[in-house]
Amino acid sequence: MVIELAVAMLACARIGAMHSVVFAGFSAESLATRIVDANCKVLVTADGFFRGSKTINLKKIADKAVTLSSTDGVKVTSVILLEHLKRVTVPQGAVLPKNEPLTDKDFLYETEMQKHADKESSVEWMQAEDPLFLLYTSGSTGKPKGIQHTTAGYMVYAYMTMKCSFDAKPDDVYWCTADCGWITGHSYLLYGPLMNGLTGVWFEGVPLHPNPSRIWNIVDIYKVNKLYTSPTAVRALSALGDKWVKETSRSSLQLIGTVGEPINPAAWLWLHKVAGEENCAIVDTYWQTETGGHMITPLPGATPTKPGSATFPFFGVNPVLLDAEGRQIEGPGEGNLCFDRAWPGMLRGVYGDKERFMKTYFAPFKGYYCTGDGARRDEDGYLWITGRVDDLMNVSGHLLSTAEIESALVAHANVAEAAVVAAPHDIKGSFPYAFVTLNVGEKLDAKLIGELKQLVRDKIGALAVPDVIQEAPGLPKTRSGKVTRRILRKIAEGCDTGLGDVTTLVDESIISELVNGRNRLG
Ligand code: PRX
Repeated sequence: MVIELAVAMLACARIGAMHSVVFAGFSAESLATRIVDANCKVLVTADGFFRGSKTINLKKIADKAVTLSSTDGVKVTSVILLEHLKRVTVPQGAVLPKNEPLTDKDFLYETEMQKHADKESSVEWMQAEDPLFLLYTSGSTGKPKGIQHTTAGYMVYAYMTMKCSFDAKPDDVYWCTADCGWITGHSYLLYGPLMNGLTGVWFEGVPLHPNPSRIWNIVDIYKVNKLYTSPTAVRALSALGDKWVKETSRSSLQLIGTVGEPINPAAWLWLHKVAGEENCAIVDTYWQTETGGHMITPLPGATPTKPGSATFPFFGVNPVLLDAEGRQIEGPGEGNLCFDRAWPGMLRGVYGDKERFMKTYFAPFKGYYCTGDGARRDEDGYLWITGRVDDLMNVSGHLLSTAEIESALVAHANVAEAAVVAAPHDIKGSFPYAFVTLNVGEKLDAKLIGELKQLVRDKIGALAVPDVIQEAPGLPKTRSGKVTRRILRKIAEGCDTGLGDVTTLVDESIISELVNGRNRLG
């Protein structure tokens, strides 16, 4: 999260090259998959960075990803390397990583900038529908999807939603705590704020480090008046007690927005009463990588809010709730959240895969864009997002694919089958809970659990590592061979009874074995 990242993204926009920012918490394999899918030529990266007191050797990950992608036939021609570690103070308890040798593809950022300091790079004028960037997001089949956004539509939508949902004004000092590796960092850290001409704060670090006052201290130092963050951060902060907040002034704050996952009413009220001291508009914004910008959100000061509801659609957006048969639910009710018309910031494709684009978003309900989320409409017309209805899970606001984690687990020689479900978590919202069936004669001991977690870390990244791995003598399956995740989800949630209809399973006895196995885990 360095300013050179913003420079690199804007430089791409200027020369008409698509950027594809990859979150630095992903593994080399994940980075390579994204490089190969988009046939990337240039990789801009840094030598490393600190996350709290942890050191991340980014150069090593980048080198490995470049090698991996070349075996897949994609040649990265140059790597622009920012020597970031040289200029930052090493946090207490952290160590500088080993200096990775430069390769013949590496170009140092500073050297290149100096070499070209007196040169002007002309603007490449693009057509409205020309692509601006790709951003990969998890897909329910496991392979990440390169979401494609356009130059004009995306920018208009980022500008307009920022302006209305946050009442953006030129003298605002606005801080979005999201990482630029996600869409929030694109729309509401870079493009939206710059187009609205306000002052943005970019933060490299962890909101709880070195102590839980960090966010509020930064608000005070820079007189931040608008803050955009995640429900996970709010829950983590509120769990640590009010002391850390109350020590700070926060007198500049006027608005606090959240995004990425449903915000539970308790966290919403904590923001309103404790952090915002009842002086701030609380704006729960619902949207997706695919939507480019806010879709359901209150307008601050104008929309009467209800804690936990993203309230009403943005201008021009028409959400509908559909039942399983695709019939519209009128009035109060719950169903699949879809949109019945296009909007400017809408994705224009899944890179290189038109069929997947159509299948994922438009095939489930003919004539609608399908979000993959469920929602409830109350008697006053307020919308409440209930969470994913597909095989994606939301962990700390990060969308993960259960299929992708499962395929990492079954890559282990001792694993025959795996099923991953989302289990509820007080802070993270949910966490990955894995059931694994081992090959005959194998046992799930601490060593194997360690190896499985490492495998997920290597194949996807630390964010996807299951918190719990349970041995399953077998997985509950229907006669057609489909794993019934709804039952596994209930077991992971801690239910012993009320698991729903189990009569369609091939082997019902598996259920009690799984419940007992979970209870043995404690
Ligand atoms: O499940 C919804 C959840 O996050 C998903 C989109 O994730 P991603 O594409 O990574 O983008 C995150 C940042 C926009 C959605 O399908 N989600 C996002 N915002 C909310 C939400 N769930 C409930 N309330 C929200 N405000």
